[in-house]
Amino acid sequence: MDIFVRNLDTSDIPEVLQIINGCPHLEAHSPFIYWILSNYFTNLSVVALHKNKVIGFSSAILSSNSKKKLAYIWQVGVDINFRKKGIGKRMIKEILCNFEKHNIESVEFSVPPNNFASLKMFQKALSESSYQIKEMADLNISVKNINWTESHRHFTANLINQKH
Ligand SMILES: CC(C)(COP(=O)(O)OP(=O)(O)OC[C@H]1O[C@@H](n2cnc3c(N)ncnc32)[C@H](O)[C@@H]1OP(=O)(O)O)[C@@H](O)C(=O)NCCC(=O)NCCS
Repeated sequence: MDIFVRNLDTSDIPEVLQIINGCPHLEAHSPFIYWILSNYFTNLSVVALHKNKVIGFSSAILSSNSKKKLAYIWQVGVDINFRKKGIGKRMIKEILCNFEKHNIESVEFSVPPNNFASLKMFQKALSESSYQIKEMADLNISVKNINWTESHRHFTANLINQKH
C-alpha cells in the first residue's frame, strides 16, 4: 500500500479532526491547537497520507521543565480502515527521526489501561528505533473544580546508546 508520511500542514487540519473524531480514546482539540502544533512544533507533528488523503495523525511536544531534552508523544490516531498495517508505528518512527534534529534524549507517552493496540504500537516503534522503555507510576490526573479525572499507564523511553 502506498503510504506517505510528512510533517503536519495547516491545510491538513479538517482531515486531522475527522481522523481524531473517528478514534476511540482520543478527544479532538480545537483547530487552533492543531494550528499551533503545525506552526510552533514543526517536525514534531506528522500525518500519514494515502492517495493524498490524511489517514493518520500523530504529534509530540517538547518539555520545558526537564533537565534532559524530553518530548511527550501525544494523540496518535489512524483511520479505522487503515489500522494494523504498520501506519501508527511508521508515524512514531518518523517523529523519533525528527527528534534527532532537536537533540531529544528521552520520550514519554501514556496510554489508557485497556488500550493494548496503542501500547503494542509504541513498544514496537520505540524498540525498533533503539529506545529502551520503562513503565513509570500510573498517571492519575484530576481537575477537581470541573470534576475531570483520567488514569493512564505512563512510560519513559531512552535511546539505548545514551548515558542517563
Ligand atoms: C493505536 C493505533 C494508533 C495503532 O495504529 P496502527 O497503525 O493500527 O498500528 P500498527 O499497525 O503500526 O501496529 C504496530 C504494532 O502494534 C500491533 N497492533 C496494532 N494494533 C493491534 C491490536 N488491535 N491488537 C494487537 N496488536 C496490535 C501490530 O501488530 C504491530 O506489531 P508488529 O510490528 O509486530 O506487526 C490505532 O489502533 C488507533 O488509531 N486506535 C485508536 C486511537 C488510539 O487508541 N490512539 C492511542 C491513544 S493512547
